[in-house]
Amino acid sequence: MASNHPFLTDIEELRRRAWEDMKSGAVTPGYALDRTQAITLLNRVLASEIVCVLRYKRHYFMAQGLNAEPIAQEFLQHAADEQLHADQVALRITQLQGEPDLNPEGMLSRSASQYKEGTSLVDMIKEDLVAERVVVMWYAEIIRWFGDADTTSRRLMEDLLAKEEEHADDLSDLLVEMDR
Ligand SMILES: [Fe+2]
Ligand SMILES: [Fe+2]
Repeated sequence: MASNHPFLTDIEELRRRAWEDMKSGAVTPGYALDRTQAITLLNRVLASEIVCVLRYKRHYFMAQGLNAEPIAQEFLQHAADEQLHADQVALRITQLQGEPDLNPEGMLSRSASQYKEGTSLVDMIKEDLVAERVVVMWYAEIIRWFGDADTTSRRLMEDLLAKEEEHADDLSDLLVEMDR
């Protein structure tokens, strides 16, 4: 029975669909995007985040050796943020009934970010800044792709993007400070 009110969907119909949907998990059969494509894309994001974790960890340990404790702490914090992002993306992949690809083999080729060790402290910060700027541009595209078709994934990517922008700001501030 359809509602007379233009903005209210038939509650009975919604209930019926919700019961149906429970059989197929969190994501409804009415998923508006190509699910395989969405999962593949999120697995690329996952690989990128993990490569970022590894790069920041490497930079953390190397900066410690260079007696640059505040900078090392910044790297460590970023590594923790990227690990959280990786976990959030992996969770979203399972909600879409996909499998998070955590196979180390091919990780780098699935990733948009690079693993650059860098020789000096300035080098490391520059490599991290480039990596952050790459994901900022790429995540903005992904957000547009999800659009209104998958608002949960879009919001997740918006949260990630905000954090990556913060990371980029932190790093450019460090570069300015080191220039003094
Ligand atoms: Fe991240
Ligand atoms: Fe980041």
